[in-house]
Amino acid sequence: MSILKGKVAVVTGSTSGIGLAYARAFAGAGANVVLNGMGARADVENERSAIEREFGVKAAYSAADMASPDQIAELIALAESTFGSVDVLVNNAGVQHVAPVEEFPVDKWNAIIGINLSSAFHAIRAAVPRMKKRGWGRIITTASAHSIVASPFKSAYVAAKHGIVGLTKTVALELARSKITCNCISPGYVWTPLVEKQIPNTMVARNMRRDEVISEVLLAAQPTKEFVTVEQVASLALFLCSQDAAQITGANLSVDGGWTAA
Ligand SMILES: NC(=O)c1ccc[n+]([C@@H]2O[C@H](COP(=O)([O-])OP(=O)(O)OC[C@H]3O[C@@H](n4cnc5c(N)ncnc54)[C@H](O)[C@@H]3O)[C@@H](O)[C@H]2O)c1
Repeated sequence: MSILKGKVAVVTGSTSGIGLAYARAFAGAGANVVLNGMGARADVENERSAIEREFGVKAAYSAADMASPDQIAELIALAESTFGSVDVLVNNAGVQHVAPVEEFPVDKWNAIIGINLSSAFHAIRAAVPRMKKRGWGRIITTASAHSIVASPFKSAYVAAKHGIVGLTKTVALELARSKITCNCISPGYVWTPLVEKQIPNTMVARNMRRDEVISEVLLAAQPTKEFVTVEQVASLALFLCSQDAAQITGANLSVDGGWTAA
């Protein structure tokens, strides 16, 4: 399936987890991709070169920090100068911190709002004029089940993800006549490094074994009792890039094993 042949996809936070799966899915559909995110240079280079080798496309990498508006603008400019356009933008970079609201460190609040919410605004702002010039575009942001419901101790994350839904709807309306769609995807728990990192702290805080944390904490709210896979999230993003999805805009699409249906 080459629905993205000749197109260019920028995926923020694509050095691991869901973002890497998006990049690989778009490359598999023929797009040249721009990777972004943290990680050891050798690991990132392995992922970048594997994409070129496996899918026969070009892949570039930018270490732009999604907390920096200037670096976000540079990332979008790099995609254009390297590959000639930005057709698909996925705002995916995200971080998490868990603490009661009265103890929530201000720097962590600012980082989560900056990386999980404001970065999407800055990237969209930079990419939209380029998409408008070409008369086509797809903007997708990874929100979360936490864009619909809350959990205690995640004030910044829940605020940022709820904010993504408002940004998505507003941008979709502004671009409705431009053949540019803007949607967000809201996964439940997906097995990625972000989730894995939460396990040791929860084991200590709740005096639980690893398997108990997985079944009684992480999957407690997910009725299917299964993790979402990164490939399932990426497949939905690829569908949103298709012509069949041209009339899907301003939507917040859940992939959460029934979490937010309950
Ligand atoms: N894993 C889940 O259960 C889950 C559920 C719902 C939503 N999400 C969302 O999915 C997105 C991806 O998370 P993931 O689970 O794949 O985790 P992950 O930790 O594997 O990926 C996060 C990515 O963001 C990058 N990143 C972090 N800070 C950055 C910064 N300042 N600048 C640039 N890149 C930065 C990381 O390097 C990495 O590439 C996040 O927005 C997260 O909130 C995850």
